[in-house]
Amino acid sequence: MTTMQARIVHKVMGRLRWTTRVLGLVLAVAVRPALAAAPAQIPDTIEQRLKTCTVCHGAHGRAGNDGYYPSIGGKPGAYLYHQLVNFRDGRRHYPTMVYLTSNLTDAYLHEIADYFAAQNLAIERTEAPTVGPEVLARGEQLVRNGDPGRKVPACVACHDSSLGGVLPATPGLVGLPHDYLFAQLANWRSGARKALPPDCMAEITKRLAPDDLRAVAVWLSLQHASPDARPAAKLEQVPPMECGSTTP
Ligand code: HEC
Ligand code: HEC
Repeated sequence: MTTMQARIVHKVMGRLRWTTRVLGLVLAVAVRPALAAAPAQIPDTIEQRLKTCTVCHGAHGRAGNDGYYPSIGGKPGAYLYHQLVNFRDGRRHYPTMVYLTSNLTDAYLHEIADYFAAQNLAIERTEAPTVGPEVLARGEQLVRNGDPGRKVPACVACHDSSLGGVLPATPGLVGLPHDYLFAQLANWRSGARKALPPDCMAEITKRLAPDDLRAVAVWLSLQHASPDARPAAKLEQVPPMECGSTTP
């Protein structure tokens, strides 16, 4: 076995071990009231219960620099809450997330969202497919200025010029893996991911060319957030189109 193969086997085994642990911990989340009533061997704190989540999303929700998992720490609370509800109610379809949220109440999803929102924003990311300078330039152009010819607004108009997101419900776009970003944009374009209305991201991704999705995903995945960055308190300008449920 080459070193590379050994590393891959090690990684896969690691994931399998985590999956077993996740299944055990899933029960802890799902049967939370029962757990609270049982004799407490493990302290029933929210940190303890949410170990189910940090297996994949990283300590404090700051997913590591490997693979697909989105970081969730420090994202706006209402945004995180909307996503948990979206998985539970059929607007997003990643099976583990659908399963984990399927029996949880709105009140508990709020509690989970608030916990992760209070953590710090993402980590540095440096992995992305190698692309030519013209692709990176197109990505940056779309993020900062949009494309008036295609009626695409600048991403920064809603996601903040820092790309750190805006309270209460617009997420930051830094610290996310390329594969995750690309999949989200492609899913919106195809209708596989939906947001609570008005769903501007569905409209924006349909206006973009398929190559543009790749360009913004690559460019964004190379941007860094400072560890103490926070979402902005409010939008810097009037949003270019109606967008996103702001219900907390
Ligand atoms: C087995 C790994 C795994 C576990 C365990 C897990 N997640 Fe996820 N989670 C994911 C993946 C992968 C995605 C992205 C899915 C997609 O493509 O839509 C995701 C997406 C999310 C999102 C949306 C992020 C965004 O930026 O839109 C939130 C919020 C979230 N998870 C919270 C949680 C919480 C809370 C828990 C614990 C109850 C949890 N996750 C457990 C893998 C996991
Ligand atoms: C008019 C405002 C607006 C504009 C312009 C906008 N967005 Fe968004 N975006 C949002 C809102 C609101 C959400 C949260 C939607 C939800 O609740 O699911 C979002 C969510 C996202 C997400 C999901 C992040 C995650 O963690 O899953 C990505 C990726 C994204 N936008 C990328 C972009 C890109 C790239 C552009 C520019 C081409 C852009 N957005 C332009 C408002 C906007």
